[in-house]
Amino acid sequence: MTESRGRLADPEESADERELEVSLRPRRFADFVGQPAAKEQLEIFVQAAKNRGETLDHVLVAGPPGLGKTTLAGIIANELGVAMHATSGPALDRKVDVAGLLTNLQERDVLFVDEIHRLSAAVEEVLYPAMEDFEIDIIIGEGPAARNIRMPVPPFTLIGATTRTGLLTTPLRDRFGVWQRLEYYDEDELASIVRRSAGILGVPIDETSAVAIAGRSRGTPRVANRLLRRVRDFAEVRHEGRISEEICLAALELFQVDSEGLDKLDRDILRAIVEKFDGGPVGLETLAVALGEEADTVQDVYEPYLIMRGFLMRTPRGRVLTKSGFRHCGVEPPAGPDALFE
Ligand SMILES: Nc1ncnc2c1ncn2[C@@H]1O[C@H](COP(=O)(O)OP(=O)(O)O)[C@@H](O)[C@H]1O
Ligand SMILES: [Mg+2]
Repeated sequence: MTESRGRLADPEESADERELEVSLRPRRFADFVGQPAAKEQLEIFVQAAKNRGETLDHVLVAGPPGLGKTTLAGIIANELGVAMHATSGPALDRKVDVAGLLTNLQERDVLFVDEIHRLSAAVEEVLYPAMEDFEIDIIIGEGPAARNIRMPVPPFTLIGATTRTGLLTTPLRDRFGVWQRLEYYDEDELASIVRRSAGILGVPIDETSAVAIAGRSRGTPRVANRLLRRVRDFAEVRHEGRISEEICLAALELFQVDSEGLDKLDRDILRAIVEKFDGGPVGLETLAVALGEEADTVQDVYEPYLIMRGFLMRTPRGRVLTKSGFRHCGVEPPAGPDALFE
């Protein structure tokens, strides 16, 4: 379970968490908090496609885990009034699965492909003509008698989600008409997400606690909802279920979330760079090995937030701690400017 691992930012959801997320997931743009630019643009494109009775252009949504990529795909399908078929890059590993999926779509449906950067090359090739001309090439027969035929598929909207756009191949990237990058949420936005979720869950929570949870959520709605749920457990078991500031702070301390909202692995990363690598630079792979963690997890889940908060920098020579990074570890930073500006 995620709790025992001390991973607040864990991108994986446990089964009951997934259920909870379904109930908390906004269904309409109006309930989607924050991301004003992405939201406004998508609302316009959706409305325009609806007015013209056309299929919405393919949409690529990028950003770290838990910022609302899947939620947005669901909202788009819902607002378009079409069905959403969800799959993921690793799950779509055979060409025939893609062909089957595409031919079974209804006109204007949304096909949501999570982790789209993990599609195999063979599957990508099936997608190119499907995205561009709503056609797929299929091979009939075997050996010398095999023939290639083109088959139409219903016009559809592909919504791709990725944690790293850099991993997308250029031909795939070029086939998306709409690109959105989700940013970390600010404290006010997270506080309104916490209040909204508490309302849906029927948990009484005061304003200070909502803000306290928001400030420790790594800018991430999924983490905010996760923390709220854990604080609720704590409040129910140790108190009468009402979340007050005192209970909230005690719970956050118990869960080892610090005042900057960093979780245990965040702090382990900073500390490893200070203690084992002298503040850096250290290569990603070396750092990951020192932490006993997957390089991808460090890079996609943890680093973006540490970088955004100014604790860590990526330089051509490797990862380097900033002065704030040193201070967060309780270590006096070396004199001189941060390494990036040397
Ligand atoms: N903008 C938002 N407003 C309110 N809740 C949100 C928002 N974005 C995400 N959430 C909540 O956070 C959870 C995680 O979002 P999700 O779409 O699954 O993230 P991603 O697909 O980017 O990993 C959702 O279940 C939803 O309840
Ligand atoms: Mg998702």
